[in-house]
Amino acid sequence: MGAMETSERLLVRPRRGAQGPERDESSPVDALLARYRERTATVAVIGLGYVGLPLVQALLGAGFKVIGLDIDEEKIAALKQGEVFISHLPAQVFAKALEADRFTPTTDFRDLHEADAILICVPTPLTGHREPDLSFVENTARSILPNLRRGQLIILESTSYPGTTRDIVKPILQQSNLLSGKDFFLAYSPEREDPGNTQFSTKAIPKIVGGDGEDALRLADALYGAFVVETVPVSSLEAAEAVKITENIFRAVNIALVNELKMLYAEMGIDMWEVIEAAKTKPFGFMAFYPGPGLGGHCIPIDPFYLTWKSREYGLTTRFIELAGEINAMMPRYVVSRVVDELNTRTGRGLNKARILVIGLAYKKNIADCRESPSLKIIELLERQGAICDAHDPFVPAIPRTREHPNLAGRRSVVLNGEVISSYDVVLIMTDHDSIDYLLVVKNARIVVDTRNACARVDGAGSNVAKA
Ligand SMILES: NC(=O)c1ccc[n+]([C@@H]2O[C@H](COP(=O)([O-])OP(=O)(O)OC[C@H]3O[C@@H](n4cnc5c(N)ncnc54)[C@H](O)[C@@H]3O)[C@@H](O)[C@H]2O)c1
Repeated sequence: MGAMETSERLLVRPRRGAQGPERDESSPVDALLARYRERTATVAVIGLGYVGLPLVQALLGAGFKVIGLDIDEEKIAALKQGEVFISHLPAQVFAKALEADRFTPTTDFRDLHEADAILICVPTPLTGHREPDLSFVENTARSILPNLRRGQLIILESTSYPGTTRDIVKPILQQSNLLSGKDFFLAYSPEREDPGNTQFSTKAIPKIVGGDGEDALRLADALYGAFVVETVPVSSLEAAEAVKITENIFRAVNIALVNELKMLYAEMGIDMWEVIEAAKTKPFGFMAFYPGPGLGGHCIPIDPFYLTWKSREYGLTTRFIELAGEINAMMPRYVVSRVVDELNTRTGRGLNKARILVIGLAYKKNIADCRESPSLKIIELLERQGAICDAHDPFVPAIPRTREHPNLAGRRSVVLNGEVISSYDVVLIMTDHDSIDYLLVVKNARIVVDTRNACARVDGAGSNVAKA
């Protein structure tokens, strides 16, 4: 749905907060709306990671001038050379825009002065005590503060609990003595990026928008309406924040459900993947979720606990989230126990000195992202019991430094050929990258433990393959 259409169907009213200024000749709102719709606006994106960079790409594709701001100097230096660290993004789009002076990568927050809209896509991780770490969002708001000017639209895209934009970002920005809804405009629009998903690029995914007041909502709706397929305005900042966190909780809970069923069905001699394939032929009331070796990435293992933390303020608990977390968190240990079972029953040996080749380091297929990846956790668990692990991942030449597994950093991905595969006691498939030759794996491995049902893709998978 285009911008004009969506703005006209804005029947919802903001639940609370500023209602926006009375419109008069001097109101900047209409002029801004026009700049967004005509794509003549300059848009700044703060935080050029897995979310921010695809957003930049979508904005450039629609014809906007884009300022890309990050505190990571190396990243900005690379972008200035036309290099893009996310392999599935087309580098030429960025290079062309650089040449045409439509894309300005920078570390200087003063450049924000030029921007008609500022989109914030910085990380929202958990602290060591598994509580929300909003320091990146707060720091970003503080860096915007001295550069905030009248007539700018600020949109938070980072995932967080309902109340973040109003209670954390707004008070910081209002220290400027400018008022949200009057002098500047504040909105929340969650990113729904699915890295590596070639079917749905940023512009093909409908965008939820919530505003602090009616003008903020109209402006955010018009901006996204100019470059995404559809906008979905909701009545408040909090509703928009709740949509995103609900989507991620929905995934976490359903993945936990199939993980739990997988373990039970395995004992009963029933194949969970076969059950799901058959169940999903029901044309209504069933949605397929797939089991795996544990959650990974920046979203599903983390975001639900933002709401759990917030719920305590209301004296309520989020038992589904906690239970799902418990089940999903035990999956790496379950996979290790399956490797032990297979080694024991097939060779009479245990893990000690067993050589294990882990296929897949990224947390999901066809991308390089290793954040929270269960592969790293499993390598540590296996090695703690005396196993000797190597890994192969076509997207990850060497294990990156992570907070949880610093000892694994720098380990290089081994080449994958028949000779290499046959030299290991067990090949453990953790990520089902499409480019892996699974036939080569099953033909050469002594034992394959497959956590993704990847070997089902090839004819010829034999009795050496066990699912986990
Ligand atoms: N990765 C996903 O699939 C995904 C999907 C939907 C939503 N999200 C959410 O989007 C947000 C961003 O996630 P991401 O995966 O893109 O993170 P990321 O770590 O890939 O990128 C974040 C970027 O922000 C930069 N940054 C940090 N602090 C900054 C600051 N003060 N000023 C400027 N730049 C700063 C970092 O240098 C980094 O380049 C998170 O809230 C996440 O939950 C992520």
